[in-house]
Amino acid sequence: MAGAAKRRVALAGTGHRGAGTWGKELVANCAEWVELVGLCDANALRLARAREAIGTAAPAFTDLREMLDNTRPDTLVVATRDDTHADIVVAALEAGVDVVVEKPMATTAEGCRRILAAELSSGRRVDVGFNYRFSPTAEKIKELLLSDAIGEVASVDFHWFLDVKHGADYFRRWHAKAEHSGSLFVHKATHHFDLLNWCLGSEPDEVFARAALHHYGSRGPFRGVRCKTCPHSGECPHYFDVGKDPWLDMLYEAPSAEDGYFRDACVFREEIDIPDTMSASIRFENGVQATWSLNTFMPIEGYHLAFNGARGRLEIRQYERQPWHSGDADEILLIRNFGRAERFRVKHRAGGHFGGDPAMQRRLFAAAEPDPLGQRAGSMAGALSVLTGVAAKESARTGLPVKVKPLLQ
Ligand SMILES: NC(=O)c1ccc[n+]([C@@H]2O[C@H](COP(=O)([O-])OP(=O)(O)OC[C@H]3O[C@@H](n4cnc5c(N)ncnc54)[C@H](O)[C@@H]3O)[C@@H](O)[C@H]2O)c1
Repeated sequence: MAGAAKRRVALAGTGHRGAGTWGKELVANCAEWVELVGLCDANALRLARAREAIGTAAPAFTDLREMLDNTRPDTLVVATRDDTHADIVVAALEAGVDVVVEKPMATTAEGCRRILAAELSSGRRVDVGFNYRFSPTAEKIKELLLSDAIGEVASVDFHWFLDVKHGADYFRRWHAKAEHSGSLFVHKATHHFDLLNWCLGSEPDEVFARAALHHYGSRGPFRGVRCKTCPHSGECPHYFDVGKDPWLDMLYEAPSAEDGYFRDACVFREEIDIPDTMSASIRFENGVQATWSLNTFMPIEGYHLAFNGARGRLEIRQYERQPWHSGDADEILLIRNFGRAERFRVKHRAGGHFGGDPAMQRRLFAAAEPDPLGQRAGSMAGALSVLTGVAAKESARTGLPVKVKPLLQ
């Protein structure tokens, strides 16, 4: 739409994801449609550094309401710690502002319900940043399922592997406390559960789950406070030198004096209260059964996903770091019952999450961008994936299956 006014976008949360994806990259990818009008973060030094790194003249605030009042944005992007999302989203909606909120939309059922109610009463719109839907491989899977390539889907096998590098990162930071992240059943699996909902075109009905802590936290052989000052740095397999990453060092090291938020907190600290090994069986309203697992201290990084249908199986092995092969593409196998297999090579695209981040931003902000695969995700998608995780946590705690939809009431 030539000559259309740019959307006035403000950003809450200028950590790694905010300053990078929703700061620098948004400004670079969507300059045609977006004007960054304000930045907000509770940590004043991180905020100042992020503002400089983004290279924006937009004013910076440590108070959200002050930013909303002063900058009058059309859209607020929320990239703060997970447990703060619900309050910030509701405040923005009540101020008449549309919201793009990072996943997970909230960490609790109550947070989801508050957001759904505020969206309804405000008449504004909530989008959830489900960038995984926008990866080229996810798009190809969705296209194949929509084309009825394997007939009616009966079951799904979905196993996600975080390696000792990436997996450990969740145990170094706030994610390791359930009150901040909802545990990885919510923080991480919200992506996976959303992919299942979206690919299957259905909604979750019931969840049965198991969880355990095997490797991190109190299971570790020794512990310190943080890697930088740790007496075990020479022997610890998870030793992480934040000083070797100029971006993280700039955003977190000196600013940690303000809030005590270290990027290199000990992965074996006693306070860790989330599991590192999780599995779940999920039944969907359309009768599909999915088995899902998440492991966080693996020698490989990626996922193994298969849809089993009436006429065949769609199988995807997406491995970022593993010993079998390297490359800039994923392979999808369409294996027909009693028939031949067809191989699709899906090339990664440029940009974060194999091109998912810039594609999602374009879909959110470019004028009149079509959405044939229904990739744009609203608040109900955000809620259902969070609630699947909430139900899984409850099931793992009680040993009983838990219904998902009643959590909405
Ligand atoms: N979609 C993805 O693939 C993806 C990837 C990474 C992170 N994320 C999400 O993005 C969000 C941010 O992740 P991160 O790694 O940058 O986290 P982070 O904790 O490093 O950064 C969050 C920032 O928010 C600030 N903050 C916290 N509470 C605040 C409040 N109430 N008001 C204002 N500022 C506040 C913190 O000071 C910090 O600077 C999280 O919700 C995370 O789940 C999504």
